[in-house]
Amino acid sequence: MRVLSGMRPTGKLHVGHLVGALDNWVRIQNEGNECYYFIADWHALTTNYDDISGIYEYTMDIIRTFIACGLDPDKSVIFVQSAIKEHAELQLLFSMITPIGWLERVPTYKELKQQLVNKDLSNLGFLGYPVLQAADILMYKPDGVPVGEDQVYHVELTREIARRFNYLYGEVFPEPKELLSHLPKLPGTDGRKMSKSYGNVIQIDITEKELQEKVLRMMTDPARKRRSDPGDPAKCPVWDYHKAFGTTSSEKEYIINGCKTASIGCVDCKKILLNHMIERLRPIWQRLNELKKDKDYVQQVIKDGNEKARTFAVETMKEVRKVMNLRF
Ligand code: TRP
Ligand code: SF4
Repeated sequence: MRVLSGMRPTGKLHVGHLVGALDNWVRIQNEGNECYYFIADWHALTTNYDDISGIYEYTMDIIRTFIACGLDPDKSVIFVQSAIKEHAELQLLFSMITPIGWLERVPTYKELKQQLVNKDLSNLGFLGYPVLQAADILMYKPDGVPVGEDQVYHVELTREIARRFNYLYGEVFPEPKELLSHLPKLPGTDGRKMSKSYGNVIQIDITEKELQEKVLRMMTDPARKRRSDPGDPAKCPVWDYHKAFGTTSSEKEYIINGCKTASIGCVDCKKILLNHMIERLRPIWQRLNELKKDKDYVQQVIKDGNEKARTFAVETMKEVRKVMNLRF
């Protein structure tokens, strides 16, 4: 199977990205699939056109994090969208056949416009976000696109664009499927959705000391105001972390009983979690530190990935121009 997915460089990656997306990407890679994973830096500009200061560093940081978390440049093609100009050409051609109504109906379009009220998002680039995403995807003719729930509509739209293109000009693009990981989303440290704007994220690139502080300050079941108050793990964000970070079933049993009978305190519970998080993150931190020092290696990974992606993209565009009678 060939798969493709991408992330926007709008910030550093957090542990939600690790257990919600990257682990899945790594598994798909290690099952022997042909993988294309890229940084959608043009997509970052659709909302962050007025603040471009972070895009380069975030891109480098995310690529280091990809590698540190197990994406292997010898197995997966890791590349940067803006280096492959063919994406822009395909986006332009798709924009000819994409009705504006399809774009205005995209749920993320409506939501983000309402959410980011203090930002002017009445731009062509933002409306065309899914057209660019369709170009990213269809360029590599993947069978599957590993994404979260929020991206399903984009993949559906991608199929509609593929269908319309194939109908108008000839069969070029197979229709890709979304590959949902079905993992519940990890909440932020305050129990709300993990989001940079809430200040409740735990970044992957965090020191052990900061991690300890964040976990110990994490919100718990509000019923456990005092150590002697019983609680319920089902109402506690710490519990979601236990489920995601390898807490053993006997530890889980101990926590459930201890929480419900108030025989353990939240600090005891969080210390068990901390051990598992540190165990999981320590090798990633080590690799990240090595990669931060080895800038040449990371640059080489990007250069090689871009070249491989470009080779594929050039071939797809030859086919596209041919069926569209663009002969020059
Ligand atoms: N829209 C995706 C997101 O915000 C990023 C993205 C851009 C993407 N192009 C893609 C994801 C192509 C999968 C395939 O997460
Ligand atoms: Fe949450 Fe653990 Fe405290 Fe129970 S004991 S409320 S699961 S932190």
